[in-house]
Amino acid sequence: MADNDKILDPKTEERIRQMARVVCICKGINLGRVLKGLEGSETVADVNRKVGTGSGGCQGERCGPRIKLLLKKMQEAKGS
Ligand code: FES
Repeated sequence: MADNDKILDPKTEERIRQMARVVCICKGINLGRVLKGLEGSETVADVNRKVGTGSGGCQGERCGPRIKLLLKKMQEAKGS
């Protein structure tokens, strides 16, 4: 496929690729779903309750720190 045959521009394509990345490996929950769970959440537990992260085999050992970082960045961006 030639570059000019691409349906999406490279920025959009990269954004979609990032959203499809798995954050919670145990439960197969991707970044797009986690970002939706971040809305209105103040803690990792809030996000876990909304989207099901943290309830897999590792009990959030792997995804918890990533979600915590995402929450922090979101709160910084909001200025709170
Ligand atoms: S990676 Fe999320 S519960 Fe294990």
